[in-house]
Amino acid sequence: MTREQWGSIVSNMISRGAKGSDEEFAQVVDYLAKNLPPGNNTAPAPQAAKTKAPKRPPNLIDQAGANDKQVVDEESAAKGKALYIAQCVTCHGTRARGSERGPDLVRSLVVLHDRYGSEIGPFLAKGHPAGQPALTQDQVSDISNFLHQQVGDTLRTGPYNSVLNILVGDPREGKAYFNGPGKCSQCHSTTGDLAHIGSKYDPPVLQLKVVFPQTAAFGRHASSNARKPVTVTVTTARGESVTGVLDEIDDFSVSLHDESGHYLSFQRGPGVKVEKHDPYAGHVALLDEYTDKDIHDVVAYLETFK
Ligand code: HEC
Ligand code: HEC
Repeated sequence: MTREQWGSIVSNMISRGAKGSDEEFAQVVDYLAKNLPPGNNTAPAPQAAKTKAPKRPPNLIDQAGANDKQVVDEESAAKGKALYIAQCVTCHGTRARGSERGPDLVRSLVVLHDRYGSEIGPFLAKGHPAGQPALTQDQVSDISNFLHQQVGDTLRTGPYNSVLNILVGDPREGKAYFNGPGKCSQCHSTTGDLAHIGSKYDPPVLQLKVVFPQTAAFGRHASSNARKPVTVTVTTARGESVTGVLDEIDDFSVSLHDESGHYLSFQRGPGVKVEKHDPYAGHVALLDEYTDKDIHDVVAYLETFK
């Protein structure tokens, strides 16, 4: 089989529990691809392409993204995983958490900001130290789906863990993080707005709220999840200023609805000042900073406020 097909087989075996280091899996793929290439055998090749990722239980965090959500396509992610094992695992590790040869991709800004390959594709085509892997647009999007799946799995402590396992953190360290490096106390108070947060949300929803507060949750939580709008203040060259809910913004124009519901649109240009206020910007910025442990600790801490 081809290197990719062998990658797919090995990835399937890993998902069934095959044990080995990243290094060893990479060696196995290397060995198989070199010694058992296509067209070299008499027996029909196993149907590598048919191997499917095991179905996972639905989970809220699966459906969330940093700014807008990338809904992970499981089939595409399974293909991406095969490509990843074939071409990336040596340096970025089996779970994409990095090795001495390459950085952690679950915490990578390139990956966090990526949507369906929008950042990963251009990065691989230009800045990548391991050269430019020859990937089609579809393959980049498969890898993107796989990496976003890894991000989701990491945030909820593993693909097969029950949701309650989210409460694995240390509440005392969560408190220290909340008031210290997390800077949560700059915007929140556990005696004020978050006083009863532990009875408002169960642990998975609470974690979702900390990680992606701008994402609406579902089901019985839906009503408590109205997303706060992004507002914008436009000041024209003549000094007139208007604030309202942002409709659309690009390099050339900005449009909004003002308080009385009127639609207004402005050409952008020198002298026109545009200030965007995203109520969730603080949280989105945090996404690039905290570790898994910080998240677990702070969720455990907040769950104590019943
Ligand atoms: C030979 C080792 C090697 C291989 C193979 C490799 N990478 Fe990398 N990759 C690196 C290194 C080293 C960096 C760090 C570059 C830097 O910091 O400038 C990196 C950086 C990246 C980043 C950006 C991370 C960040 O936030 O800075 C992405 C995304 C990435 N690689 C994806 C991939 C994908 C997808 C594949 C497989 C198609 C792959 N890499 C294969 C070594 C490798
Ligand atoms: C820059 C300000 C800012 C910072 C810093 C910040 N938040 Fe928030 N947070 C917000 C805003 C704004 C909301 C949305 C409130 C709303 O929708 O009513 C929010 C929402 C939340 C919610 C959901 C509250 C609810 O009742 O639905 C939780 C939980 C939360 N933040 C926890 C945290 C934690 C934990 C940290 C630190 C790791 C943190 N926040 C840091 C501004 C911030």
